[in-house]
Amino acid sequence: MLTQFEERINAGEVIEPKDRMPERYRKQLIRMMSQHAHSEIVGMLPEGNWITRAPSLRRKMTLLAKVQDEAGHGLYIYSSTETLGVSRAELVDQLLYGGAKYSSIFNYPTLTWADMGVIGWFVDGAAIVNQTMLAKCSYGPYARAMIRICKEENFHKKQGYEIIATLSAGTPEQKAMAQDAVNRWWWPALMMFGPPDTESPNSAELMKWKIKLKSNDELRQRFVDLTVPQAQAVNLTLPDPDLKFNEETQHWEFGKINWDEFWQVIKGNGPMNAERLKARRDAHEKGAWVRQAAAEYARKHNPELINS
Ligand code: 3HC
Repeated sequence: MLTQFEERINAGEVIEPKDRMPERYRKQLIRMMSQHAHSEIVGMLPEGNWITRAPSLRRKMTLLAKVQDEAGHGLYIYSSTETLGVSRAELVDQLLYGGAKYSSIFNYPTLTWADMGVIGWFVDGAAIVNQTMLAKCSYGPYARAMIRICKEENFHKKQGYEIIATLSAGTPEQKAMAQDAVNRWWWPALMMFGPPDTESPNSAELMKWKIKLKSNDELRQRFVDLTVPQAQAVNLTLPDPDLKFNEETQHWEFGKINWDEFWQVIKGNGPMNAERLKARRDAHEKGAWVRQAAAEYARKHNPELINS
């Protein structure tokens, strides 16, 4: 027999923080949402690395705004996770010292300016495919956070694609730089969607509760189908000799993903895992005085906020 909660989910109702929910539902949401928030925050690092080296003032302003948006996304998602009864301080602690996961994609280095283009195009593009579905998920605070985030990710994707279109139409060296970035980021971008459905331990439960509405493989396929024509439009080649359009299914078939690499990266052995975590820990520890000062100020001027 279905529980009252399952009936609500099946009827497409939105679950709000004060509603009754199974403990597993709450735990799964905290796991997934906190990993997502961490990804937004760690995701500032690869692009932050290029702000001082952007090739023009216009590019610098746009990149600065994009990286700042990612910080905002992290904060909305930490706030929506707090509605499940866990504090942001606790979640940040899990990221910095507790081995919490964040997206595999941010453990790769950003070697050239073209990487800024490809990150906007592929990484924000993949995030949009994933997050437009999450904007319809069963947990209200997460779904609502996703609506605003997706709007901003759309700008990010456009700025990245425009960088790549410009480089691709530029000098032979610029075009080669764009192609090299595409070659390095394509496969890690496909890994962002998570392991194949047959090896995804959380999917069945998440789909039962309408937290996930589409599976990892379905979303990966959608991303490939959207991205292949975009690559053709800017005369760049995706580094997969097995890519071919299947007339029957109307989908692009693609080659084998190196899942060993994926599992290594999420275990902490990717090219940049150690550096990313060190940068976050340093920032947190050096920023302790700012948190103390803000708390002290609030205690003095808004004591009711501290006590509430
Ligand atoms: N990177 C790191 N870990 C990953 C991963 C990835 N790309 N894909 C899967 N994993 C982890 C899972 O977290 C899980 O680990 P856990 O059980 O220890 O927590 C394990 O691998 C098995 O994977 P599952 O498929 O069972 O996990 P999920 O069902 O949770 O699906 C997911 C994974 C598709 C990433 C899903 O959690 C999800 O949609 N999350 C929300 C979106 C998100 O986190 N996006 C981050 C992308 S970056 C971003 O948005 C920033 C933007 O600014 C560009």
